[in-house]
Amino acid sequence: MPHLFEPLTLRGLTLPNRIAVSPMCEYSAEDGFANDWHLVHLGSRAVGGAGLVLFEATAVSPEGRISPQDLGLWRDEQIEPLARIVRFIDDQGSVAGIQLAHAGRKASTWAPGAGDGAVPPDQGGWDVVAPSPLPFAGHYPHPHELDRDGIAAVIDDFAAAARRALRAGFRVVEVHAAHGYLLHQFLSPLSNQRGDEYGGSFENRTRLVREVVAAVREVWPEQLPLLVRLSATDWVDGGWSAQDTVKLSQTLKALGADLIDVSSGGMVPDARIPVGPGYQTPFAARVRQESGVAVGAVGLITAPAQADHIIRTGQADLVLLARELLRDPYWPLHAAEALRQSTPWPRQYLRAAPHGSRAR
Ligand SMILES: Cc1cc2nc3c(=O)[nH]c(=O)nc-3n(C[C@H](O)[C@H](O)[C@H](O)COP(=O)(O)O)c2cc1C
Repeated sequence: MPHLFEPLTLRGLTLPNRIAVSPMCEYSAEDGFANDWHLVHLGSRAVGGAGLVLFEATAVSPEGRISPQDLGLWRDEQIEPLARIVRFIDDQGSVAGIQLAHAGRKASTWAPGAGDGAVPPDQGGWDVVAPSPLPFAGHYPHPHELDRDGIAAVIDDFAAAARRALRAGFRVVEVHAAHGYLLHQFLSPLSNQRGDEYGGSFENRTRLVREVVAAVREVWPEQLPLLVRLSATDWVDGGWSAQDTVKLSQTLKALGADLIDVSSGGMVPDARIPVGPGYQTPFAARVRQESGVAVGAVGLITAPAQADHIIRTGQADLVLLARELLRDPYWPLHAAEALRQSTPWPRQYLRAAPHGSRAR
């Protein structure tokens, strides 16, 4: 079995190790444009040695933003500020990936710290869409039901954003179908009560995700990997389940998805989630075991031995860390030392590296 610092090859791309920066909204963009904050934030994690640096949920359309401060990739002008960051990450020997997203009924909401729930139109809010006209919570925007043309536009927006991501130099694309955002809203019977071919049966509820993944796969080069983030369960009776996730993962693999990034929750505000160290890892292990697709494990992975154990025991092919990498952007360098593995250091920092370290 491989270990944490062994490279991971997906299609024609090799990640230098099994550590990924999990996507994290920074709520720091203006009109969707990346800026110096994103360069320093993401660049630091590449300097810190993460093999894959996934950019935050990046909206495929303005109405798909969670908050007015989200990153976006719905205009060609948004490419270059992202490309600048990608070039820096490449120079560090890491791989840059982008998470493409549409927030659906969880769009047009305040960034953390700015407020809670819907942003009113006179303060920069907008009309939101969803599979069915059901709000996430009372104080969230009340969505319009997407019609057929609206659904077709969402698929086109994902494909167009993927094309722009490629022009920006990204080598990994992740479709965000988790955490109660638009694609997850179609998957879950709790938020999808449509009577047409996009609602009802498992086949119908998974149709949009399958169509988006197929459309992105079509524009994403054959030799580059495509990831999909799923919420393995809604943590509510009658919601999307782990069994559904296994079944969908098999289908997505056949459509050209290379790794399922297995998260959970986000569908309803009051789910009871047994949060603890590695609490979502068993879902990743199950998807890997039962659907035969490569998986990423995420959720309260904080200790080097814990992360290494997940890889060594074949529970996942990749670990994604979010908050621990905010606390310590150099976590991968520190983890290598703790695990007695060697990993290249930035040339500029070599004098501080463990004896015998090589420069990137
Ligand atoms: C500040 C912050 C922003 C986040 N933004 C995103 C996001 O843009 N997309 C996403 O899929 N998950 C997002 N998440 C969830 C993380 O990617 C991750 O799944 C979650 O925090 C659990 O991992 P952790 O225990 O290592 O923090 C965010 C988490 C944090 C803390």
